[in-house]
Amino acid sequence: MTKNLSERSIQLQPSAFAKFFAEAVELQRSGEDVIHLHVGEPDAATPKHIVEAAKIAMEEGFTHYTPPGGLFELREAISKKLKNDNDIDNDPSNEICVLSGGYNALYCAFQALIDPGDEVLIPEPCLPQYWGDVTLAGGVVAPVRLMENQQFKPDLNDLKRQVNKKTKMVLLNSPQNPTGSILTKDDMNSIAQIVESNDLFVISDEVYEKFLYGDFTHTSFASIPGMKERTLTINSFSKTYAMTGWRVGYAAGNSELIGKIRALSEHTGWSPNSIAQKAAIAALKGSQKCVREMVEEFRKRRSIITEGLNNIDGFSCTAPKGAFYAFPNTEKINSSSMELAQIILRKAKVAVVPGIAFGPQGEGKIRFSFANSKENIKEALERISQTLKDII
Ligand SMILES: Cc1ncc(COP(=O)(O)O)c(C=O)c1O
Repeated sequence: MTKNLSERSIQLQPSAFAKFFAEAVELQRSGEDVIHLHVGEPDAATPKHIVEAAKIAMEEGFTHYTPPGGLFELREAISKKLKNDNDIDNDPSNEICVLSGGYNALYCAFQALIDPGDEVLIPEPCLPQYWGDVTLAGGVVAPVRLMENQQFKPDLNDLKRQVNKKTKMVLLNSPQNPTGSILTKDDMNSIAQIVESNDLFVISDEVYEKFLYGDFTHTSFASIPGMKERTLTINSFSKTYAMTGWRVGYAAGNSELIGKIRALSEHTGWSPNSIAQKAAIAALKGSQKCVREMVEEFRKRRSIITEGLNNIDGFSCTAPKGAFYAFPNTEKINSSSMELAQIILRKAKVAVVPGIAFGPQGEGKIRFSFANSKENIKEALERISQTLKDII
């Protein structure tokens, strides 16, 4: 019954990903041995020293509201991190806002920046929440196609062509979910020229910044000369420190925008979890060895999954440069990505995400997360290979 629902909520549909997730969980509950290669979260436990900091916070009674925008000590630690790792200067007093995860930061950012009818250029396939957030803010997504034969990087001519009077901003996500592509400093410089000459704004989602393979280094868009004032950097503790359940992320940008995001955060939960903020401080101030070790493990899994997928008939996969997803092309198999993902789930008992969940450009591809043990990845590849032999 939709009588009491707002038009806005009626338009909102559960994502294809959420439906898939529910089916995988249901299968598991019915006793099936499902291998989960669909989840976008590190399988490692949150490092001990981070958990310890949370325990101390609880025992000391640090269990109350904190100010919206987050603890000053955490904002200070984030400011230092942004300076050291990302070459960006953000004043902890008014240019950083801590939120309940990157998703919360993205939602508030679009609410703060988008007026009805504004267009947002988004390289696609992409995180489905970008579409939902832009739409909820009354904006319109202008997809910029990411092509496999262009290493899943936005085509600059396409980007330029799509700019019109309504274009307000560009969303950048490097390393990218789901394609694993990255933007180099040169790519960023070229995009910066388009941004500057068209007076655009940029949201730079950098939650996978530490997950890089090969000789690549991460460049933050805000560190490109002239771009700091035009950029909102979004980051999170979720992926880097295996803290997806703790829900701590942040936005860094000019003080006017950060002030509005902070005000919006009062309406989407008031403040992030107090205990999780103490844990986040420990994450930034403690040794970063745990991050390096996790990424090293992911590097090994990346080789296994890329090689394994290329050995499956009908699949071809280029090694991702960043994040922790393989995004093989499955166009040779005569099924839509949704049908294929369903076959893989129901017959091979491996949960993956159909490419279409990330937008039309994701069709003909499947996203595999390699945030699972090497043994499980090998077993999953074997099961899929056997299952597909029967249908190709
Ligand atoms: C590209 C990207 N941005 C942001 C997020 C949000 O992460 P969180 O809300 O856990 O910080 C995700 C989560 O999967 C993601 O893939």
